[in-house]
Amino acid sequence: MTLAVCPGSFDPMTLGHVDVVRRARAMFDEVVVAIAKNSAKTHLFTDAERVELAREALADINGVRVELSSGLIADFARDRGAVAIVKGLRGAADYDAEQAMALLNRHLSGIETVFIMGDPALNHVASSFVKEIASYGGRIDDLVTPNVARALKEKVK
Ligand code: PNS
Repeated sequence: MTLAVCPGSFDPMTLGHVDVVRRARAMFDEVVVAIAKNSAKTHLFTDAERVELAREALADINGVRVELSSGLIADFARDRGAVAIVKGLRGAADYDAEQAMALLNRHLSGIETVFIMGDPALNHVASSFVKEIASYGGRIDDLVTPNVARALKEKVK
């Protein structure tokens, strides 16, 4: 039984995230999506909202569960017996940000990070852009799941 942790701030979860989680689940028996805090970002949605939105967005993928992680991802992954931490990569900018995190997480826990290239059709999808588009009343329905689109429209009202 192999378990992988897929961490992120997921503020909110996008179709790009859903795609990466689906691909991770094809590689590992169980995937735990860890909703974590990125200390470099101010989150629009609360911890509970991000968990709820991710749970609904991923409800149709079996073997996937969503949990809140309030400490280090290295500790979270080790506590759950993860064999890998999985991250999606869209391009070089993601790689630059992720390289140090992967090495630090391995330094702290011994757990390797596995990078997955998502669907190129979703390469342009990022939570930050989705929030910005929503704040101007733009169309986000094909960038996020319906529950997230509803929550975003409500939040930016
Ligand atoms: O989706 P993001 O914002 O790129 O995710 C970054 C996140 C939340 C995975 C990262 O900030 C993180 O791991 N935070 C939890 C605290 C932690 O473990 N920090 C050390 C990272 S080496």
